[in-house]
Amino acid sequence: MLSYMSAKEAAEKWNISQRRVAILCGEKRIDGAMMVGNMWIIPSSAEKPVDKRTVRYEKEHQIVLKPFVKWVGGKGQLIDELEKMLPDSGEKTLTKYCEPMVGGGALLFNVLSKYDFAELYISDINPELINAYNVIKTDVAGLISRLQEMQMVFLPMDDNGRKFYYYSVRDKFNSVVLTEATAVEKAAYFIFLNKTCFNGLYRVNRKGQFNVPMGAYKNPTICDEENLLNISKVLQNVTIVCGDYSLAKSFIDKETFVYLDPPYRPISETSAFTSYNADAFDDAEQIRLSKFIDEINTTGAKIVLRRFDKELKTYGFTNEF
Ligand SMILES: C[S@@+](CC[C@H](N)C(=O)[O-])C[C@H]1O[C@@H](n2cnc3c(N)ncnc32)[C@H](O)[C@@H]1O
Repeated sequence: MLSYMSAKEAAEKWNISQRRVAILCGEKRIDGAMMVGNMWIIPSSAEKPVDKRTVRYEKEHQIVLKPFVKWVGGKGQLIDELEKMLPDSGEKTLTKYCEPMVGGGALLFNVLSKYDFAELYISDINPELINAYNVIKTDVAGLISRLQEMQMVFLPMDDNGRKFYYYSVRDKFNSVVLTEATAVEKAAYFIFLNKTCFNGLYRVNRKGQFNVPMGAYKNPTICDEENLLNISKVLQNVTIVCGDYSLAKSFIDKETFVYLDPPYRPISETSAFTSYNADAFDDAEQIRLSKFIDEINTTGAKIVLRRFDKELKTYGFTNEF
């Protein structure tokens, strides 16, 4: 005997709104759906209909893009959860993507691999990280050649040689003041240090100097040429901004998907790894962020916040949680 589910159950199963299920039933896009009284019932075996609006944004030839640096908080465990909301919010198509605290971009690169958003905006407060994004966008060949040189010198060395090389790069990185002329050099140091330092951490002291010790990787990939070339292609369509997340405000409108992944709240004064730059993301910062979310929420954007307890909180979706 055929079993049926309610519109509510279908909505939960397919992760779309009940209203959307009703629209799909009304458009006869779900085989076997029937109106009983004033309610839709749907065969339990029915598949979620392919949403034409989503397909429009799916790339025909998807390329696998990986973050080019390891980054705290960028593990991507929540990607599956987040992807269910993209790029269709269940009610209307989202054409713009905004990630104002992009870090290593675990979600960004997943999105760029799969979807063609019309406009994308990323930012971060960390100037070295944003310089690396900009250099990959504008001079990927220069960056690859510099990283390959470093890789060729570093990998064949013994432990002592590697240590000497690592700390001399770290000293140079800390002494180079970022200018247009040094942008490629600094991006290469930044990526080299990220790939060879302890756990891929980015931590700076009070003077803003990178102070992570060398890691113990046997054969780190310092230059992933293919990935960098692919990233460079997709970044051509992305606005990259160095600065506070609040600068994203003018970009955000009702067609925008916004993903906010702030640094964790420091547990104590000395909890070092929350500190991506000289300023930690303390309670005052958390409150400022919640006010910003209230402001952008008025635009009708779909917003997802990753909270420091690692849960996701959504705004502007039909099924908020
Ligand atoms: C938890 S990490 C983001 C991780 C990211 N989702 C990933 O996949 O790697 C938080 C990021 O927020 C950035 N950040 C901190 N304060 C900021 C601010 N006021 N405006 C913009 N970015 C900020 C940090 O530099 C860091 O890269």
